[in-house]
Amino acid sequence: MSVQSTIRRKTAPDIRARKGGDPIVMLTSYHAHTASLVDRYCDVILVGDSLGNVMHGFETTVPVTLEMMILQGHAVMRGSQHALVVVDMPFGSYEASKELAFHSAVRILKETHCGAVKLEGGVRMAETIAFLSERGIPVMGHIGLTPQSINTLGSFRAQGREEGSWAPIEADAKAVADAGAFSVVVEAVAEPLGRKITESIAIPTIGIGASAACDGQVLVLEDMLGLSPKPPKFVKRYGELGPGIEAAIKGYAEEVRSRAFPGPEHVYGMKKS
Ligand code: KIV
Repeated sequence: MSVQSTIRRKTAPDIRARKGGDPIVMLTSYHAHTASLVDRYCDVILVGDSLGNVMHGFETTVPVTLEMMILQGHAVMRGSQHALVVVDMPFGSYEASKELAFHSAVRILKETHCGAVKLEGGVRMAETIAFLSERGIPVMGHIGLTPQSINTLGSFRAQGREEGSWAPIEADAKAVADAGAFSVVVEAVAEPLGRKITESIAIPTIGIGASAACDGQVLVLEDMLGLSPKPPKFVKRYGELGPGIEAAIKGYAEEVRSRAFPGPEHVYGMKKS
């Protein structure tokens, strides 16, 4: 008897086939619970290394480790059934050589059972993307603003604001697509550039602060829920959950302090002595 699930998850080739078709809906998640909610509405769940900022309070994604990504990737896989789960390769786990990238990506796939990895960089990572893709590892690229390079970039500024600076970003997009990535995140680039890249490459572009013309969009879940203290300026908030969570915690603390906290008798039907 087969022990394989009858539920079919979306795959990297499914997402690749959406170029120019129905927009791809993608959000981040790092936990089983939020993953089960995101899974109902999204095609792709990204276990982003933004977990370093959101979960751990780091200023940048640089300190995030492979172990952190694997732990949360596994949790997201347990919480979801339908979406393609993509796990970010953290800073330092892939840049030194294509062999290092292969070993790190294999650990991610084997230990989380996710369907693909994402890594940052265009022309400079093309050889690595080809090496992984040819060896059975679906790769999502990430170009434009690449937050893992914050220490050389100096700031999280949008890229390609002037037309004169578009050429290297366009070259990155082409290199990632030619190397065999199944899709590419385009982060914080001027709208006309995001549009131009989308029109010129054969794989789906997934925008974050890029252009509505991209083949899909991604946001950090906590940013769009209004839970992040400093979300990027381009983020539209679809909820304001912060005040609701604070009100619930405040209500609980007040009940405990004033001894109004309900005992279990209301559940078990016991009489108060
Ligand atoms: O880490 C992340 O959440 C990301 C998205 C911002 C695309 O890479």
